[in-house]
Amino acid sequence: EAFAVIMAGGRGTRFWPRSRQGRPKQLLPIVGRESMLRQTIDRLRPLFPVDKILLVTGSDLAPEVRAEVPEIPPENILVEPLARSTAACAGWAAIHVLKNWGDHPMALLPSDHLIGRQDFFRSLLKKALELARDRALLVTLGIQPTRPETGYGYIEMGEPLEDRSGAFMVRAFKEKPDLDTAQRYLAQKTFLWNSGMFVWRPSVILEAIEKYMPELYEQLLLIEKAYGSPHFDHLLREAFSAMPSMSIDYGVMERARNVAVIPADIHWNDLGSWEALYEISSKDDQGNVCSPEVITHEVRDSLIQVSSGQLVAAIGIEGMVVVVEKDAVLICPRERLQEVRQVVKELEKRG
Ligand code: GDD
Ligand code: MG
Repeated sequence: EAFAVIMAGGRGTRFWPRSRQGRPKQLLPIVGRESMLRQTIDRLRPLFPVDKILLVTGSDLAPEVRAEVPEIPPENILVEPLARSTAACAGWAAIHVLKNWGDHPMALLPSDHLIGRQDFFRSLLKKALELARDRALLVTLGIQPTRPETGYGYIEMGEPLEDRSGAFMVRAFKEKPDLDTAQRYLAQKTFLWNSGMFVWRPSVILEAIEKYMPELYEQLLLIEKAYGSPHFDHLLREAFSAMPSMSIDYGVMERARNVAVIPADIHWNDLGSWEALYEISSKDDQGNVCSPEVITHEVRDSLIQVSSGQLVAAIGIEGMVVVVEKDAVLICPRERLQEVRQVVKELEKRG
């Protein structure tokens, strides 16, 4: 018996302006016709029956999420009253699985990634679930890095485990390093990217949260006690508002010692930015990825996306991203796309 928990509460800010408030990346079709969330569920279905798939999302996104994946039982959709990042999400999901079903291995998975080799992915996920069932480990799937990406976590592989899982113990975990550090890791060959896909037993992750994030743990205990209470929603909100907001990567994975990684050559792409989309798309002979209606003259290595029918022409630009939506336009050099987040922050401040 095993469970899949999908984290679908993120805001996907780096795909602005296509992703807007209430319509983050996981609810958009970035590649293909289906939303990233739909694709995520479909790739898990051969491994998990629907009643063993859970979703965790925010109250603002919950209606859209439910509509997008109606086959998931409503009681399996956990709605966070406030966004408190992925450690809170992981903690509540662990409590929920433990309370309702027991200490069975669970996979905690993002809702907005692309995976090319699906069968192979499922076979590795199965191995990870078996490993987590048998041992008190926090297991991750690791990806061979191809560039000094600063938006990912890096995992230093240690000794191989003495079993058939293909896993290695993790010597160090570094979340979102600066560019110099990322370049050093890339050169060393013993580092993998953290895919953001984790596998563990509820008791094992909760013990790690207790140790490394005691303030979060305290609130999780209150949630556990609130199960069955007629005031559950109120108590849940109180607990969430008192929680620290920190990702599982910074909060637990960087600090824990019982971390293992399974290298996963699954043609993974987190589609974390317009740059990631540029990289996986097929390009014309000038290296451009353009919507069909875009007119270009001496444009090179650029991504120009128009989704709303406007006529767009570009002349003499290189290495640029231009995204035209009905009511917003992004113009940004490809190497500065990480800064799109700042725009979204600025917009949030303006309200
Ligand atoms: N329910 C819920 N609540 N889900 C959330 C929340 C939240 O508060 N915040 C984020 N999520 C979801 C997102 O929708 C996404 O599916 C997943 O959790 C990961 O969050 P991201 O915000 O996308 O994390 P990241 O991309 O910056 O970093 C993580 O993923 C990288 C690989 O893509 C880390 O795990 C990195 O170490 C990793 O390399
Ligand atoms: Mg991400």
